[in-house]
Amino acid sequence: MKLPLIKGWDLSSEEFEIAWKKGALLTASIETSNICNLACDYCFREENPIVSKKRLPNELLLEDSLSIIDDLAKLGVKTINIAGAGEPLLDPNLPIMLERIFSYGITSLVATNGSKINDYWINCFIKTGTSVMIKVNSFNEQKQNQLVNRINYAKKRDRGLKKLIEAGFNKATGEYQTRLSINALVSKDTINEVPEIFNYCRENNIMPCMGSFIPAGKTATRTDNEVSRKDFLVLADKIRIQDKERGIEYIRLWPYLGGVPCTQQGKASIFVNILGGIYDCPAGTVEYGDLKKITIEDAFNKIKAEQTNYCLGCLARDLR
Ligand SMILES: C[S@@+](CC[C@H](N)C(=O)[O-])C[C@H]1O[C@@H](n2cnc3c(N)ncnc32)[C@H](O)[C@@H]1O
Ligand code: SF4
Repeated sequence: MKLPLIKGWDLSSEEFEIAWKKGALLTASIETSNICNLACDYCFREENPIVSKKRLPNELLLEDSLSIIDDLAKLGVKTINIAGAGEPLLDPNLPIMLERIFSYGITSLVATNGSKINDYWINCFIKTGTSVMIKVNSFNEQKQNQLVNRINYAKKRDRGLKKLIEAGFNKATGEYQTRLSINALVSKDTINEVPEIFNYCRENNIMPCMGSFIPAGKTATRTDNEVSRKDFLVLADKIRIQDKERGIEYIRLWPYLGGVPCTQQGKASIFVNILGGIYDCPAGTVEYGDLKKITIEDAFNKIKAEQTNYCLGCLARDLR
């Protein structure tokens, strides 16, 4: 059986290699506003000790975001991920951005905490062919609420997930395997529940996106809650054996469970944050330019000059 990957991440390693050799861009990540209704203990797009993510005074305007999308389209990207800076469904610019991405035939993938999903958003995602990655740190209501520091989140997220499933986002078509993914963190707090969340994904044709902490923001520094690389690999190997019994085979154990590759950093990809900073990936620490001073194409040329085609792993986590 083919590795079940979400539309937008289902690019082959050959496609990455060809794009890299040609010097073309294949995937990109951009952001919506920093505003968010949660205050996750582990947010890699916020610094400690901030407990409420606010709109930043110097965020890009809608016209800037649209012109980034135009530039990325000219450079040939096939997928644009919108995975931050805050909760994308709180940004009124998101639908217009998704329409612009769709007009170029590019796949968009939105990461959301799921609490704001309603019929409006379901229709918007359907109309624009958007793939959705929803967060599930725990199916235990109390524990989930505790991790995001809000008392009423888990139930809303569960309703959002149900709506996505009812609308068929987890159905395979001839064109793609699924348009739904669950993002779960593998930390000491959550590792006991990870196998259950992983099985839920496999039973419902949802792509699991489950990795250890991204070394940035609140998790820039290693804490006692972080699982060791060894423990992660032991779990990944157990899951690989179970997957083999399900008929899903792969070699990759890192950086995500279930053979899922990372499609960013040093792989014909680029990240532009909501302030216009350009990086090789959302966890990147080296800024390759500021959109006010440099074009995306020139920043990408700088990235290409410094990086090699990395093998679909996670250099940021490797350097931890
Ligand atoms: C920054 S969030 C923005 C989207 C949305 N607010 C959410 O949380 O789903 C993007 C994704 O990164 C994940 N994430 C947040 N902090 C992380 C960390 N320290 N390490 C790994 N993933 C993280 C979230 O679970 C989410 O799936
Ligand atoms: S991880 Fe997402 S939901 Fe949580 S605080 Fe960060 S942006 Fe908000």
